[in-house]
Amino acid sequence: MSKLDHAWVRSQFPALGLTLAERPVAFFDNPAGTQVPRRVIDAMGNYLACANANTHGDFLTSQRTDAVIAQARQLSAAFVGARSPNEIVFGANMTTLTYSLSRALGRSWAAGDEVIVTDLDHDANISPWLELTERGIVVRRIPVQLHDGTLDLDSFQRLLSRKTRLVAVGYASNALGTINDVGRIAQMAHSVGARVWVDAVHYGPHGPIDVQAIEADYLVCSAYKFFGPHLGILWGKESHLDELRASQVRPAPRTSPEKFETGTKNHEGLAGLVGAFGYLGELGGAPDLLAQGAAGARAGLLRAMHAVRGYELELGAQLLQGLTSVRGLRLYGLSSAAELQRRVPTFGFTLEGKDSSDVSRSLAEQGIFTWAGHHYALTLMDRLGLSEQGGVVRVGAVHYNTASEVERLIGALQALSR
Ligand SMILES: Cc1ncc(COP(=O)(O)O)c(C=O)c1O
Repeated sequence: MSKLDHAWVRSQFPALGLTLAERPVAFFDNPAGTQVPRRVIDAMGNYLACANANTHGDFLTSQRTDAVIAQARQLSAAFVGARSPNEIVFGANMTTLTYSLSRALGRSWAAGDEVIVTDLDHDANISPWLELTERGIVVRRIPVQLHDGTLDLDSFQRLLSRKTRLVAVGYASNALGTINDVGRIAQMAHSVGARVWVDAVHYGPHGPIDVQAIEADYLVCSAYKFFGPHLGILWGKESHLDELRASQVRPAPRTSPEKFETGTKNHEGLAGLVGAFGYLGELGGAPDLLAQGAAGARAGLLRAMHAVRGYELELGAQLLQGLTSVRGLRLYGLSSAAELQRRVPTFGFTLEGKDSSDVSRSLAEQGIFTWAGHHYALTLMDRLGLSEQGGVVRVGAVHYNTASEVERLIGALQALSR
């Protein structure tokens, strides 16, 4: 596993130089969106300055636009391990893509068919499926085990039947950090002929994704969670995408992936996405990913994401130890050092006698950015009995965070708990 050159990493993100009251800002709000490297900012500016146009025209800026979209598809395919760039669909964000595909999938199902969701997931992977109940689709739920924030796979086994059409599951929880065993879940789903929809939005910045290894059928992620601009990415097996009917205006292309890309795409965002992959490539020792071919680009991105994961495991260990040392702090989810491999460094907790939003606000005043609330994990917060209590404070580290930022956070929490 290659090691991160952390000084280089930090130097790539202009926002990490922000200060508040002459102290550097510490970004632990990453689960809601990460900062972006200089390459993203430059790529978006360059696109708008030198390539801004609509697609498929016989002139320079349009040709450059087509090239940017093709590159974004190529590198997104390399990022998730797709067989072809044609398996990549771009959209406004994960939620919009999920609604669009859930409606298309729902049209191909009959009343009485079943979808299984989880009690752990972000609502963007629940509500689009619940909407299908209006068409007679039955939605079932995998319970979450409250003592450690993992899914109850024995109950899941009992929910599966020949009526199950799809299992919609998160790769990692955006509220508690649990990594779900999506490979096993996919195998269990496939054993009854169901397909698997993986929400990798939260997992995306934390580790390598391999849609073949986990045997997913569809996977969604959001570039703004892994150092890119605000846009969503869907991967689906080519044959799965081909068989679906999309909602389209009449002149739009009838073939996938374009048939799912309603209207004009976010071209400058896609340029930024190419910049984000360029940054990750450089992190993985492959600064010019596009010159590497599909296998080389995939290898470069994998090296980067393995290095990210290795670094985050160390930072996660420090965070876990620090958080559990704070008096009155109650951590939810996997909480022992032996379980770090089963989670990403996203931690949800409450502080005894304090409202979570007050804790988050007090940290913000000290330049430490976090979030408090339900984090759209509505069912989970209900099950934990925290919906009425203001939810949890969420601290989420990524690979640009440092050990000294963690020390500062823990010090501030210790002071607050006194
Ligand atoms: C796990 C998870 N899924 C889905 C979403 C929704 O993503 P988007 O904002 O791209 O719609 C989020 C956003 O926070 C998330 O954390």
